[in-house]
Amino acid sequence: MNMIDIILKKRDGGKLTQAELRFFVKGFTEGSIPDYQASALLMAVYFRGMDKEEIFELTNAMRYSGDTIDLSDIQGIKVDKHSTGGVGDKTTLIAAPLAAACGVPVAKMSGRGLGFTGGTVDKLESIPGFRTTLEPEEFFRQVNENGIALIGQTAHITPADKKIYALRDVTGTVENLGLIASSIMSKKLAAGSDAIVLDVKCGSGAFMEEQETAVELGRMMCEIGVAAGKRTVALITDMSQPLGRAVGNSLEVREAIETLKGRGPDDITELSLKLAGVMIYLGGRTKTAAEGEIMAQQALHSGAGLEKLRSLILRQGGDAGIIEETDRLPQPALKKDILAESAGYVQSIDAKCVGLVSQHTGAGRLTREDDIDLSAGVLLHKKVGDRVNRGECLATICGSSKSKIAAAEKEAQKAFVIDREKPQKPTLIKEVLGL
Ligand code: URA
Repeated sequence: MNMIDIILKKRDGGKLTQAELRFFVKGFTEGSIPDYQASALLMAVYFRGMDKEEIFELTNAMRYSGDTIDLSDIQGIKVDKHSTGGVGDKTTLIAAPLAAACGVPVAKMSGRGLGFTGGTVDKLESIPGFRTTLEPEEFFRQVNENGIALIGQTAHITPADKKIYALRDVTGTVENLGLIASSIMSKKLAAGSDAIVLDVKCGSGAFMEEQETAVELGRMMCEIGVAAGKRTVALITDMSQPLGRAVGNSLEVREAIETLKGRGPDDITELSLKLAGVMIYLGGRTKTAAEGEIMAQQALHSGAGLEKLRSLILRQGGDAGIIEETDRLPQPALKKDILAESAGYVQSIDAKCVGLVSQHTGAGRLTREDDIDLSAGVLLHKKVGDRVNRGECLATICGSSKSKIAAAEKEAQKAFVIDREKPQKPTLIKEVLGL
């Protein structure tokens, strides 16, 4: 078997076999297949696509390219949750403790933010002392004793996906549904949970701008999960405006705490309860997802979810005092208000633009190696459908660097569209697949 034949086959619209996909994934991961040949194949896949079998085989080849986690030492049905990435999405910090408080073991590995989207690991690291790296024995012990542990993805999981994703990122081959689905699902399957809840975002702040494409991706990922023997549910949710009001690491942790205290924004509360409800259902605690959501609501109102977050923070070395005193989180040295230039109703808030503003404040990375400012980000005072007066504050930009705040300020005005007519609010949860 050789790589040139594989490239030619896909270039001409052929179907790759399990053996060919494994040959490519193994050879590229080990370094015997050079970047230029891998890039040519990825571009051929980008244009020619892959069928279900090819996508499943590629997923499996990447899933087993490194370590896989065996969670069988943890009792119960373990449920994972994954978001395809968005702006202001802190639902893991809320839904995971709620599900754990309802008896669903959550042994979750999360990623860092890249580009204008945030990542759970960075958010957790804004909690003073919080350890996002645990040895496997400690990880399992935390889940067995406390029902939850949240850590960063270990270096040895799906090395093939890491290499292929990095190459796609610089060769214009990210936006292919089969490649995205196999990339995400290879990581989820390697992480070892029994069931998976996917939050597939659509809108300007997401990979998929159109709902139909997000649905197609959601279906594809559910099929891969089910074919691998995992119950998988996908929610298709709005990312045309940021989720909640806080964007940026410590700002989002604070909003997650407020939400678990019952004082969160409506959208973040609604989505977190829905996600937790599906997790609780897939975890076998209720007969339906609707009952799961009611159970999640009870855990929110009783404070059980907040207590679960507190114990999670404590057990992973963090300062649990932030629950009562959120000012103990990293605080921005500088703040700049963005004022409305006209009166009316907020028609739209471009999520991608807000994500870029947040990135420019220092909250996000431009390259994987960049340090981030954990205190930086954007606070939205208005959301789509809200009335504003001229000169009223739309958003506050937070950070520690004058020049970064100035750059972010210029962008921020562009994110808001204000007009006279009161607009329809976007539907937050558009579809649920796989229930
Ligand atoms: N997230 C991933 O992990 N992989 C992709 O290909 C796209 C988004």
